[in-house]
Amino acid sequence: MNADAKLQFSIEPNPAAVAAAERATLLEDPGFGRVFTDHMVTVKWTEGQGWHSAKVEARRPFQLDPACAVLHYAQEIFEGMKAYRAEDGGITLFRPEQNARRFNESARRMAMPEVPEELFLGALDALIKIDEAWIPGGEGSLYLRPFMFASETFLGVRPAAEYIFCVIACPVGAYFKGGKKAVSVWVSDDYTRAAPGGTGAAKCGGNYAASLIAQAEAIKHGCDQVVFLDAVEHRWVDELGGMNIFFLFDDGSIQTPPLTGTILPGITRASVIELARGKGITVHEEPYSIDQWRADAASGKLREVFACGTAAVVTPIGQVKSTAGDFTIGNGGGGETTDMLKDALVGIQRGRIEDAKGWVRRVR
Ligand code: PLP
Ligand code: COI
Repeated sequence: MNADAKLQFSIEPNPAAVAAAERATLLEDPGFGRVFTDHMVTVKWTEGQGWHSAKVEARRPFQLDPACAVLHYAQEIFEGMKAYRAEDGGITLFRPEQNARRFNESARRMAMPEVPEELFLGALDALIKIDEAWIPGGEGSLYLRPFMFASETFLGVRPAAEYIFCVIACPVGAYFKGGKKAVSVWVSDDYTRAAPGGTGAAKCGGNYAASLIAQAEAIKHGCDQVVFLDAVEHRWVDELGGMNIFFLFDDGSIQTPPLTGTILPGITRASVIELARGKGITVHEEPYSIDQWRADAASGKLREVFACGTAAVVTPIGQVKSTAGDFTIGNGGGGETTDMLKDALVGIQRGRIEDAKGWVRRVR
């Protein structure tokens, strides 16, 4: 184990924590990403010293110099995961070591220091324990956002010599407003998200910055999410702005774009593939073109399509809009296989189905 991983967190409870009654009101309908807990975890990294100054402290603004490197060159990465209130009152995380690994893959791509897995997981545990009263009941969860940014005050273009790793948390309900049964997507003609050799497989803030104009275009066309096509041929479906995508066919098979470096290797994606194969479903990780998508929707060969990710869980896609015309998938509202896979995933995440694969980690 790396020496950094043994860091002890100093704990400074928030003296102005939100009162229980106000918290209860906030938890009634938290939405996504608007309500935050009382604390955060911060750990610093300095060249020559490594990770140090691990703290659980009151959630507060950072004080950054105007020349702080992240504000100029966007050296920033993040993760997204959820803590659940189990049926027996305990608290669980779903495959958090996978988030730790992906975080470090993102760190390598962005020339940032890696966070030892034990430090990453320890930071999550520390925050969840101090803010556990913020985990909503029912179908809600506590969304955890570990992130790291270049904190050095320096305008030279090179990897920074100082970083802050931080974890914040927010209670969340459904990502799509109104808990929609199925969502609509807009196929982006003008913009691509990631090119070969680029940062598409990393969870860096810059990827999302680049996606916003296309997402705004999707909203303008009345759609919930944008679909990105590959940057080279502008033909192959990559993923959505913040989710992976699956196609389900009339022969019972499933297809999802392969991990070739331009899409985010989703942990939900990997879990869905494993669950589907475990149920005897054939899963192809192969490229799928927009023309084929349109043709298969028209012929009826394509039965269901869904988006998946931590925020979206498993959400059916019903409508597709593009400059070349709009089309509907199946009856426009998902289907049996999507529901079955969602139930299998959520059942494990929430402790309603036996965790045969050892994916659930108990915090308490
Ligand atoms: N693709 C993108 C661009 C994302 O932002 C996300 C969400 O994290 C995903 C896919 C799904 O990843 P995961 O299932 O690990 O949340
Ligand atoms: C997540 O699912 O964690 C994401 O990062 C996607 C974003 C839509 C919040």
